[in-house]
Amino acid sequence: MKIASILLAAGQGTRMHSKIPKVLHPVVGRPMIFYAVEAVQGLVNLPPVVIVGYGSDAVRQALSGAGFEVQFALQEQQLGTAHAISCAQSLLEKQADQVLVTCADMPLLQEETLQRLVTLHAQSGGVMTMTSVIGEVPRGFGRVVRNEHGGASAIVEEAVATPEQLAIREYNVSAYCFEAAWLWENLKRIKPSAKKEYYLTDLVEIAVKQGYKVETLVLPDPAEALGINTRVDLAAAEHAMRLRINQRWMLAGVTLLDPATTTIEVGVTIGQDTTIYPNTALRGSTVIGEDCHIGPDTTLMDTEVGDATLIQNSVAEYARVGNYVSIGPFCHLRKGAVLMDGVHMGNFGEVKASTLGENVKMGHFSYIGDAKVGSNVNIGAGTITCNFDGEKKNLTEIGENAFIGSDTMLVAPVKIGKNARTGAGSVVTHDVPDNELVYGVPAREAKEKK
Ligand code: UD1
Ligand code: CA
Repeated sequence: MKIASILLAAGQGTRMHSKIPKVLHPVVGRPMIFYAVEAVQGLVNLPPVVIVGYGSDAVRQALSGAGFEVQFALQEQQLGTAHAISCAQSLLEKQADQVLVTCADMPLLQEETLQRLVTLHAQSGGVMTMTSVIGEVPRGFGRVVRNEHGGASAIVEEAVATPEQLAIREYNVSAYCFEAAWLWENLKRIKPSAKKEYYLTDLVEIAVKQGYKVETLVLPDPAEALGINTRVDLAAAEHAMRLRINQRWMLAGVTLLDPATTTIEVGVTIGQDTTIYPNTALRGSTVIGEDCHIGPDTTLMDTEVGDATLIQNSVAEYARVGNYVSIGPFCHLRKGAVLMDGVHMGNFGEVKASTLGENVKMGHFSYIGDAKVGSNVNIGAGTITCNFDGEKKNLTEIGENAFIGSDTMLVAPVKIGKNARTGAGSVVTHDVPDNELVYGVPAREAKEKK
């Protein structure tokens, strides 16, 4: 038995009112279609077929760029969900015995659920099996009509439903499993709707009329079926996905003080007994060690943090932070910032493309860019590396145990020796030897002044 899958992703998503194809709108930091592909790829024997149409180049690029192994079929005109499926026929005909169909705008639908759908289909012996939810769903769902014996007899789209049908509380999720040969044979029997669209949902009625029973997998959790049609749905999906990811971390030993305002993207890892405070976002491939305190109001993007480190009210991008470091409030670590173990970075500091050695203290209002700072250096309040001369960026080197006085301007390229000191307000334009004290504007060695 071979099973293939088709993901519907050709629609513009008119109700999003967006320039971006609907399926590329992010949910917890990544395009919603990524979740839909991940939910099917483990269940099939062939790479999933993604039906692309509106914004097809962007959709192809997003999936291929992220390394997904998928095939694409183009639906040039979006003539409805059944027409979309027919665009995959030449790719899949005779390649598979069953076809699993899902929509790329349902990021919350889980692999386990689709596995149950496939299993139910195999047991049923029918030609198609569908999924439904009962209860509260957003607008726009088709209704599942049942006969007097309780069997599904049709799916009626909301736009054409009678008032009685509209009162039905069982909704079509839009995930199906088909016998492939039957699907290809019967797609062509679907008649266009009043809107000249071919609805995949019409296959239920067609199967039932042929005497087949259409089994339904009723999902226990309606949230899984959330299909994104509008930005209101998008916000609901964001919330639900965030809580799903956050629950996994809490159950794995991470404390989240306010899961509703904590965003943890799927590529992030967090060590045991770390506490995340409210309004914190951990993005990309951020890695956080054990026993850390992160947040509140903190965003970390592709940043590595060791153990027992504290970061509050700060932003870091592409940075590396060691163990027992304290950062913030109100710091910005930019690309290439490396803070070794024990660094203290107090309020209003910025570090870019620089390494701060072990136990460096940088308490207040400083900018360190393109610098190598040795261990145990004290960076006084208001210290600035003047790294840009208007044309290029220049390096500042500060030797270990140096003491940089408050408000020192280090005009790069410049080297401050080990154990050297600069007086408050110095503008350092020349290298300072080891153990030397300089001060003034421009800074001179103290002994020359005597
Ligand atoms: C569809 C179902 C509805 C179900 C709902 C669940 C149909 C006719 N209706 O309605 O019964 O309750 O999903 O969310 O199937 N697409 C294409 N090509 C097209 C049209 C759509 O690829 O020509 C894709 C869209 O990109 C989207 C998916 O199919 O990913 C569903 O389309 P959408 O317009 O959102 O259908 P709904 O109105 O939500
Ligand atoms: Ca939809």
